[in-house]
Amino acid sequence: MEKIVILTGAGISAESGLGTFRDAGGLWAQHRIEDVATPEGFARDPALVQAFYNARRAKAATARPNAAHVALARLQADWPGEVVIVTQNVDELHEKAGARGVLHMHGILSGALCAACGHRWPAPAEMRVGEPCPACHAPSARPDIVWFGEMPYYMDEIFEHLMGADLFAAIGTSGQVYPAAGFVQEATAAGARTVELNLEPSATVSRFDETRFGPATQTVPEWVAELLAG
Ligand code: APR
Repeated sequence: MEKIVILTGAGISAESGLGTFRDAGGLWAQHRIEDVATPEGFARDPALVQAFYNARRAKAATARPNAAHVALARLQADWPGEVVIVTQNVDELHEKAGARGVLHMHGILSGALCAACGHRWPAPAEMRVGEPCPACHAPSARPDIVWFGEMPYYMDEIFEHLMGADLFAAIGTSGQVYPAAGFVQEATAAGARTVELNLEPSATVSRFDETRFGPATQTVPEWVAELLAG
């Protein structure tokens, strides 16, 4: 039975009240990437970076999954073949909607990472500068978020899934950040059909066989209902 691989971006969580990055007024209009989403920025001003992620962690903690997250969880539960969800998002709204095995290639807000020994543990609501690592006790705790210039997580596993995909969907992503923006090409090379579900055309829209424009809470449930209706 067909294997479906889905890539999601900030747009799928927009209607849950979590900001996107590149829409008008988005996160990258409020903060400079180099200040809050790079290792250099963290070294330069850890208090600013911890405050940035503390605020996003607090918002994500109370956010509720929307109809798009719920539809993908239903697809994963009811589709006879494998459904793999790869997300660039660091919120856990897919999991709150019941999805399983979600691959967070850019990390998660609820995770803490020790920059010294690599230990991971559940992040406190508010991470402080110099937070000690529970394992090695060095004052080197950081959010377990993949910053620009760092290698995204699960890349080998993700490319394996793309090689075996029969259908690839990109949902709520502007297609401006690699390697995620290149997944459609990998899927196409593997013989998959490809579809983009987005509010507006992404930077990689021309690489998709099919596009569906509109808010994710409308396009995703419709798309899932069609797939499950066979
Ligand atoms: N429904 C569907 N799509 C939407 C909605 C919505 N309600 N609202 C916005 N979008 C679309 C926008 O049109 C845009 O194409 O979601 C996309 C969001 O794009 P970005 O803000 O660039 O977010 P994303 O593509 O996830 O960014 C990728 O960049 O900054 C890094 O690590 C960060 O994971 C992030 C990565």
